[in-house]
Amino acid sequence: MQDIKLITEAAEIIKAGGVVSFPTETVYGLGANAFNHDACLKIYRAKGRPSNNPLIVHVAQIKQAEELVIFNEDAYLLSKLWPGPLTMVLPEKRNSKLAVCVTAGLGTVAIRVPAHEVAQALILQSQVPIAAPSANKSGCLSATSHEHVKSNFKDDDIFIIDSETTSKYGLESTIIDLSTSIPTILRFGFITPQVIEGLLNKKVEIATASSKIKSPGMMLQHYAPKTPLRINAEYLEEGEIGLNFGNSKLISKGSLNLSPTGDLAAAAANLFAYLHMLDNYSEANLIKRIAIAPIPNESIGLAINDRLIRAAYI
Ligand code: TXA
Ligand code: MG
Repeated sequence: MQDIKLITEAAEIIKAGGVVSFPTETVYGLGANAFNHDACLKIYRAKGRPSNNPLIVHVAQIKQAEELVIFNEDAYLLSKLWPGPLTMVLPEKRNSKLAVCVTAGLGTVAIRVPAHEVAQALILQSQVPIAAPSANKSGCLSATSHEHVKSNFKDDDIFIIDSETTSKYGLESTIIDLSTSIPTILRFGFITPQVIEGLLNKKVEIATASSKIKSPGMMLQHYAPKTPLRINAEYLEEGEIGLNFGNSKLISKGSLNLSPTGDLAAAAANLFAYLHMLDNYSEANLIKRIAIAPIPNESIGLAINDRLIRAAYI
């Protein structure tokens, strides 16, 4: 388990209106007291995040979520996946006391119960819900290690909890909107549409870029490394470095393989870390582009391709 003293120190910072970066089982979060408007504004400033893009509220248990949002039957069914990598968008309770900037005034709240023991301990010790987006500068690659967070926020006043455990899933949580008549997946993640449909015993919709943008963070360009990307690459072009999957053959000095055995969960867990590595390698070695092998567009591959399409979008 993480150094308890570090978590206690971090919890004091949250209580005092500061910003803490903490590990979760998905990606690192950049958190503040969700009741404290000024504290949450610091997150927007540090990330360079547009103020119309609301934050996910992290709570320790369902009971704490019930104080902030209105649960419906579907929400109770899906809460079986908590703690875990699922975020539900639900109507905000009138007396939630959440800072307006956390929800961007939408009237709904994106909420989740993280499973990571450090995230759990931090919320419990802080005694408040923690609003936290992913701990990266707006539009950039998400962080799956404290080194990524440090390199993103060198000049910011942020307390970073160094966790020895790496991110279990590697990708941000699945987001499902349950505030509308038909449950709609706003962002793919480790929890697949099939798993959700199984629990709800009905079909869900998938929000696409062309459908009405419900999640302000769904804009197409996102997660971009500094080096350009080319996706679905069958071969390497001159000046490129390869990111492989399974038995693909984009082989050059420094190239990597997300999962040589073709395991999508393993590939997801490695995705951001490998993109960070290839990005740094490309900068240092004057490589012009990262070529990425095709990833099957099924199950967790849906989430991987979603991130890659946004990362490659110019
Ligand atoms: O795994 C995760 O979800 C991580 C960890 C730290 O929990 N967090 C994360 O936060 O990925 P962020 O801010 O990078 O992405 C949250 C997404 C954004 O696209 C935002 O627009 C959307 O959730 N969102 C937040 N509140 C919303 C709401 N009320 N309705 C619709 N979308 C919302
Ligand atoms: Mg993010």
